[in-house]
Amino acid sequence: MKTEIAAFQDKVWDFYRDHGRELDWRHDPTPYQVVVSELMLQQTQVARVAERYPRWLRRFPSFEILAGASVVEVLGEWQGMGYNRRALYLHRIAQAVMNDYGGILPTEPDELLKFPGIGLNTAGSIAAFASDAPVVFIETNIRRVFIHEFFHVGDEISDKQLMPLIEQALDSENPREWYYALMDYGSYLAKTVANPNRRSKHHVVQSKFEGSKRQVRGEVLRQLMAGSRPSFDIDDPRLKEVLLALESEGFIVVKDQIYSIAE
Ligand code: ADE
Repeated sequence: MKTEIAAFQDKVWDFYRDHGRELDWRHDPTPYQVVVSELMLQQTQVARVAERYPRWLRRFPSFEILAGASVVEVLGEWQGMGYNRRALYLHRIAQAVMNDYGGILPTEPDELLKFPGIGLNTAGSIAAFASDAPVVFIETNIRRVFIHEFFHVGDEISDKQLMPLIEQALDSENPREWYYALMDYGSYLAKTVANPNRRSKHHVVQSKFEGSKRQVRGEVLRQLMAGSRPSFDIDDPRLKEVLLALESEGFIVVKDQIYSIAE
């Protein structure tokens, strides 16, 4: 008799053989290309990333070229993907790789964690995809697969409960491909079953954009990027907070009460 885990592995591989996705960033998973795509995929849907990723690579084909670009250029190329803090992070990662690591991205997750914008899960995904390392990590599609397959009832399922299963199921001979397969199966489940992640303790829904502070942030940056004299709604109580936050995060600088995009 096959173990439950072995049967699950067969099911995921079978699915992948028939329905695995052709995605640009999987063709040539160099460290640079993996870092760019994983940061993009953190909060932007695959279809949108698929449109924008080739353009980004043409504009910034390497850590070196990205590191040498200006903040305006980097934010400009990111525009439309949302959560643009990630563009600044990518820029800083590229600069750190060039300045502190001799142009070579480290392979160890613990080392990757030191970079801005790379948390535990992204450190794992980068190690798995760039280095084909048998690391254990979770993200939204993986979470969905394991809850759907192994937790038929119950709420508030924690990642801590899922991690041992992810570890047992990991194909340590072929981790990169295994995680592609898991993510593809998870993405398929998202379209076919009621979202299992609602039963996750860590489930968060993206906040509404319309009327949000995120929208004000986007508008302020768009105006400053456009270079014309910005016309902010100074009565908007969110404006001051947004400007302060953008300044402290390094998006913008203020000099003689004039705001502009950072150098
Ligand atoms: N392929 C590689 N990384 C991926 C991700 N984070 N989401 C979907 N497909 C991927």
